[in-house]
Amino acid sequence: MAKPVIVTLPGDGIGRIVLQQAIRVLNAAGFEADYVHGDIGWDFWCKEGNPLPQRTIDLIAKHKIALFGAITSKPNDEAKAELSPGLQDKGYTYSSPIVGLRQHFNLDICVRPCKSYKGNPLNFIRRSKGDTVDEPMIDVVIFRQNTEGLYSGVEWTNPPEQVYQALMTHKKFIKNFGDVPVEELSISTRIFTRKATIRILDAAFEHARKYGYKSVTVCEKPNVIRETSGLMWKLAKEIQKSSFPEIKLMNTNIDAQMMWLTKNPEDYSVIVAGNMFGDIASDAFAGLIGGLGFACSAQFSSDGVAVFEPTHGSAPKYADYEVPIVNPVAMIESACMMLDYIEERKKSAKIREAIAGVIEEGKVRTYDMMKMAGSPEVVQHGAASTSEMTDAIIAKL
Ligand code: NAI
Ligand code: MG
Repeated sequence: MAKPVIVTLPGDGIGRIVLQQAIRVLNAAGFEADYVHGDIGWDFWCKEGNPLPQRTIDLIAKHKIALFGAITSKPNDEAKAELSPGLQDKGYTYSSPIVGLRQHFNLDICVRPCKSYKGNPLNFIRRSKGDTVDEPMIDVVIFRQNTEGLYSGVEWTNPPEQVYQALMTHKKFIKNFGDVPVEELSISTRIFTRKATIRILDAAFEHARKYGYKSVTVCEKPNVIRETSGLMWKLAKEIQKSSFPEIKLMNTNIDAQMMWLTKNPEDYSVIVAGNMFGDIASDAFAGLIGGLGFACSAQFSSDGVAVFEPTHGSAPKYADYEVPIVNPVAMIESACMMLDYIEERKKSAKIREAIAGVIEEGKVRTYDMMKMAGSPEVVQHGAASTSEMTDAIIAKL
């Protein structure tokens, strides 16, 4: 069988560090692939005026599977100032290459699992009867619509005349905003399409069925945001009834979900939401299982492009340590999601078991797991470095 070709996109900062560690683990687990490097990130903005060069888009279009580290984004004025002198004042404007990737390939399905590891000192605990504490084991997978909703970028301050006139046809707009001067209006739209909503719902239900989860929870706010949240809830009921009758369908409002998640997080399994509420819910659940060092994700398009990445960013302040200290687990978990996707499930299971073994044993812990503030000294104070953590995982394989 031909080896799969994986496009590696290390990007910036700690993205480069953790991606390298993930590949060490993939190799040690016996996964054979050809890796091709793709340029992405700040250096290419500075040198070429484009953090997502066309050659990188072509590579991903050709090979379809990418492992991504993280990129650095900076505000417009700083971005302009760091452009190489030859490119200054040529009209280049910075935009985030990971957002660009999601839009270019229409990576509309984002999957973010949050599963507790036994023995992780960062696990959520709660007070129980008497003086005891409970440590509920969390196994939640968030399906976040990744391209629409409040993050689609359809927004205005001082909207153009046609937009204003269109709004003035709405009774509630006239009543609540009709006397606000147009230049004082800022508007961000929340657009859901039927097609994309069905895709994220289907993906959530399929996942529940495939992995034996008992329920799917739509986490929106249909009682208030009646059109968009309402559409998702209505379609969810139809899809459940027609195609997934064995899976229980639940409905929570995003605000109440933030409360339920510390009261009874173990009651939730697959959660599906639009772009912003999915982002909020996934960060909140990630907090219960150890935070950014443990939060992994995958993104899929309808035509077979898949990008796997940790949820964290490039953490620039930790990027240039002589001995890197950041936790590689989120990136290694993201690589496991890639193995699942290409049906290398034995290998992903083996790697996850190795991670679980290291965490449960508790001898090797990165600084975040020891609740230390990050600094080069953490290693002298008993924290494992990034590569020591990886070594421990590899030793368990
Ligand atoms: P960040 O996720 O890079 O870091 C926030 C903090 O979380 C760090 O200072 C560190 O304390 C902790 N942290 C992150 N990853 C960790 C790991 N693997 N192990 C241990 N601790 C970890 O977010 P921040 O500081 O808001 O952004 C830094 C840069 O990253 C910005 O330029 C931002 O635009 C970019 N970013 C990129 C993302 C991406 O590439 N998908 C996502 C989020 C931010
Ligand atoms: Mg986020």
